[in-house]
Amino acid sequence: MSQYSVLVVGMGKRGMHHAAAFNANPKFQVAGICDIDPKRLDDAAAKLGNPQKGADAAALAKSVRPDVFCFCTLPNLRTPMIRAALESGARLIAFEKPVALTSTEVFVIRDLVRQAGAKAVVSHQHRYGKHYQQVKAIIARGALGRVHTVYGTATGWMTHLLSHLIDYTCWFNNYAPASWAMAQAAGKTKFTDNHPSPDYIAGFVQFANGVRGVYECGAGAPDQPEVAKWWGKNRLGAHGTEGFAEVLTNGGWRAVTKTGGAQSGDGAMNYDADMPPYIQEMADWLDDHQKVHPCNLEHACLGAEIMLALQRSAAEGGQVALPLVTGADEPALLQAKLADRPVLVSCEQNRKEFGLA
Ligand SMILES: NC(=O)c1ccc[n+]([C@@H]2O[C@H](COP(=O)([O-])OP(=O)(O)OC[C@H]3O[C@@H](n4cnc5c(N)ncnc54)[C@H](O)[C@@H]3O)[C@@H](O)[C@H]2O)c1
Repeated sequence: MSQYSVLVVGMGKRGMHHAAAFNANPKFQVAGICDIDPKRLDDAAAKLGNPQKGADAAALAKSVRPDVFCFCTLPNLRTPMIRAALESGARLIAFEKPVALTSTEVFVIRDLVRQAGAKAVVSHQHRYGKHYQQVKAIIARGALGRVHTVYGTATGWMTHLLSHLIDYTCWFNNYAPASWAMAQAAGKTKFTDNHPSPDYIAGFVQFANGVRGVYECGAGAPDQPEVAKWWGKNRLGAHGTEGFAEVLTNGGWRAVTKTGGAQSGDGAMNYDADMPPYIQEMADWLDDHQKVHPCNLEHACLGAEIMLALQRSAAEGGQVALPLVTGADEPALLQAKLADRPVLVSCEQNRKEFGLA
């Protein structure tokens, strides 16, 4: 069996998750690793069978010529990595959410990948959790009747979590395109974070199939007291004419349906369990063009445009039509427009997490 060679760039938390999961799959071998931090690079090399290493991703990629170029750098570093991947001839690019911080950059990335005819996937891997799968299965078999609403809330801030909320609810809604978005935002403290965000954003999305999307992310989003882990207080689901089904990222799933009554089960987000199937589906797509990865870039861009339209609406007011037709720097627009007033929180833990007195 031929193996696909992999270069992983950024040996932080997610880079190590990816590299370990690639090496654990017999279809892949990590042939190169890259980081600008020499100690991180040496520590990672020792754990990954001492592949080639370097601090310059583009140069290393030209030397390794990987089948898969994977990068897990912070959200401010995207386009140069996409270019390095394509110039090295990689057949598949695997990278981390969010696709990019601005619509200008989302369009550049999407155009580059489309023009090259490369495959690309974005890591929205929570979906492999058994509790997410259960909720999707309930929706897909029609047990909710006509789905009219999908929703997602998270206390964690936007650039960490909104892309996850939107992607999984788009999955629940079979990736129907969106027609418009409208939102409000408050609080500026997290614009200085390495995941720059308003402290709170909340909004509505009209999907072209008539389904309503409702999203909230950050300090004003509701607590989920059933969940202890703050980053896992995410609630995502769907309402239909005959019931509802929802998942709590670190608190299992629950549903009430007309024919099934009340149901529930366990499940918690777990990188060790979620990464192997995410990686396996990359092998499947490389082996067979028909087996398109569910986390493909086109799906991720639908969500990215929604996330950016919500920000644009919060900055400029009113509804924003989708798909977007022009690029912009939405976080900058929003930061310039928001008042300096502190965000109002929904629970004491949010006050602490957002550094408020
Ligand atoms: N999908 C998920 O569940 C999930 C979870 C956490 C984080 N993330 C995302 O993963 C990405 C990375 O997050 P992280 O927590 O692993 O960050 P991290 O800070 O732990 O790692 C980033 C690494 O990139 C390296 N780096 C920076 N510039 C570089 C360059 N030019 N060349 C090579 N290496 C460079 C840094 O030295 C660092 O080691 C972010 O986009 C984040 O949003 C996703």
